[in-house]
Amino acid sequence: MFGLFGKSKKEFQAIIKPSGKTLEVKAGDNLLKAGLAAGLRWPHDCRVGSCGTCKCRLLEGKVKELSDFAYVLDGDDLNRGMILACQAQLKSDVAIEVELNPGDEDGAGVSTTTGILSATRMLTHDIMELKITIDQPLREEGGHYLAGQYADISFPGISHPRSYSFAAAPEDDRRNELTFFVRKVPNGELTGWLFEGDRTGSPVTVSGPYGSFWLREGDGPVVCIAGGSGMSSIKALLEHAANMGCNRDIIYLFGARTQADLYCLDKMSALEQEWYSGNTLRFIPVLSDEPDNSNWQGLRGMVTEHIPDQLKDWSSTQAYLCGPPPMIDAAIKSLRQQGVDQNNIHFDKFLDASSMPNGRQ
Ligand code: FES
Repeated sequence: MFGLFGKSKKEFQAIIKPSGKTLEVKAGDNLLKAGLAAGLRWPHDCRVGSCGTCKCRLLEGKVKELSDFAYVLDGDDLNRGMILACQAQLKSDVAIEVELNPGDEDGAGVSTTTGILSATRMLTHDIMELKITIDQPLREEGGHYLAGQYADISFPGISHPRSYSFAAAPEDDRRNELTFFVRKVPNGELTGWLFEGDRTGSPVTVSGPYGSFWLREGDGPVVCIAGGSGMSSIKALLEHAANMGCNRDIIYLFGARTQADLYCLDKMSALEQEWYSGNTLRFIPVLSDEPDNSNWQGLRGMVTEHIPDQLKDWSSTQAYLCGPPPMIDAAIKSLRQQGVDQNNIHFDKFLDASSMPNGRQ
């Protein structure tokens, strides 16, 4: 007998304005997922309803909120009909207005591939480098990903995917190999398993690329600030900038607890030396918990305390921040106090895995 319970779940359509493109949104999928799968350059970062980057305007139709939009969107946004695409499932056909990232849709899609964990290497006592050999490139055209983006990684037997940033410039990774940095999380299901034994040869599924964190065009100085495994995105971004012949001054403040938590020092030193004549890259590690009587000659304290000293004129500065939310919030506050335009501050928050299904680690 057919009644309500026998009715099949529906697929709805979303008309995306101003382009007029039509998306088929499968039952159970959110609007952002459908947009990315169709190759739209839909701005997004967290995909879990916390950053607000995917916001768009609902012009017609009805959506179901997977989490409360008001958690991220303010009253003005809500009154204008703004919604979060990553937290919206369709209850009817809809019309949506969204400002997509510039660029061609060709080759911008998200894909999923299988592969194996081909190598691991400890970078510090709690950060491991993973090399994953994949069966298919994530994108056929234009490189796997943009430096600064991230992927979802799943291992069999681990309850859900985890998100990690690509840790090398796309042109430096081989076409079938991806590099990630993984920090051990106390009581973390995936990292507990990963750090417990030799997991090389394990099958893995990778999907992506995701995120809107990449180096924007510009002439002014660039300030990068990262902490812990946030090194991954900034390293990829700097390598890519070097490969492209970037002729801008860059300051990279990296926060760690002690000297034992520093890594990629040789790579940073090589980048500093090969930076383009007339411009400089300065890598500045800052230690927060280094013993007072150690041989450390560098900066101490919280990395964000040292932001104001780095430049005199901040007017044309772009900032790129990558790491845990408290560091990013403090960095944004300090940068805004220096006069950096909000639109020139780009960040990738590593949300706590315990509170977010795909939390960055
Ligand atoms: S709120 Fe949707 S991508 Fe962050």
